[in-house]
Amino acid sequence: MNIETAALISPPLAILSTDSAHASQASVDTADEADEAKSGSNESEPKSEAESEPLRLGVMASGSGSNFEAIAAAIEAGRLNATIELVIYNNPQARVAERAAKRQIPAELIDHRTFTSREALDDEIARRFKGCNVEWVIMAGWMRRVTERLLSAFPSRILNIHPSLLPSFPGIRSVEQALNAGVKITGCSVHFVELIVDSGPIVMQAAVPILPGDSVESLQARIQQQEHVIFPQAIALAAQKVSATIPATS
Ligand code: GRF
Repeated sequence: MNIETAALISPPLAILSTDSAHASQASVDTADEADEAKSGSNESEPKSEAESEPLRLGVMASGSGSNFEAIAAAIEAGRLNATIELVIYNNPQARVAERAAKRQIPAELIDHRTFTSREALDDEIARRFKGCNVEWVIMAGWMRRVTERLLSAFPSRILNIHPSLLPSFPGIRSVEQALNAGVKITGCSVHFVELIVDSGPIVMQAAVPILPGDSVESLQARIQQQEHVIFPQAIALAAQKVSATIPATS
C-alpha cells in the first residue's frame, strides 16, 4: 500500500467521549446532546441554554489567544450564552492581552515568576476570578500546571483545550509528537482539568488528518481551526451537564 494515501479520512468531525470511568457527573453521552447544547433544545432540561443566565467565564491564557478570540466571537454571534468576565495571562508579551483590549474585556497580568510557589499563584488566580464572580474557568493555552488550590476553588468547572486526541500525546509538543509517531489522524480535545496534566474527562474532540508533507506548523494550523470550532461548543455542553448536578462554590 502506498503509505502516503493512508492518511485519507473524511472531513474532521466533532465527536464526544462516552467512556471515561472517572468522568462521573461531568461526562457527556451522545452526539445528540452536543446538538442540544448548541441549540438549547433539550426538552428534559428545565431551561434551554438561551433562557438560562449567561455563563460567567474566566479565561486563562499564556500566548496568542486565538482560542480566547474564538470563544469571544461565539459569544458575540450568539452561539454561546456566556460572558467573559476576566482574562488572566502570565506572560507580559502575550498577545491575548491585545485581543482582550480590542474587545474591551478586562485582562490582568499575573506573572508566575513573581510567585514563590504554584499554590500561591493559583490562590491569586482563584481570588481574582472569585472577585469577578467567575463560575467557569477556561484554560485557553495556559502553559502552566495547576494545583489542587485552583481545582478546589472551581470543582468540575475548569476546562482545557489540548492539541491532540487525548489520551494520545499529552504534555508539551503534542503536534510534533503526533507527526513523529507517524499517526495518520490527530486532532484536539476539550477536557475537564484534573491534577495530572491533560488527564481529565473528555468533553469533545475533533479529528484532523495528517497529510503528506505536513510540517508542525501546517498541522498545528489545521488543528487550531478545529479548536476554535469545538471549544465554544464544549463549554456549552459541559456547563449544561455540570451546572444541574454540581453546585458552584462561592
Ligand atoms: C492551543 O493550540 C491549545 O491547544 C494549546 O495551546 C494553544 C493555544 O493557542 N493548549 P492560542 O493562544 O489560543 O492561540
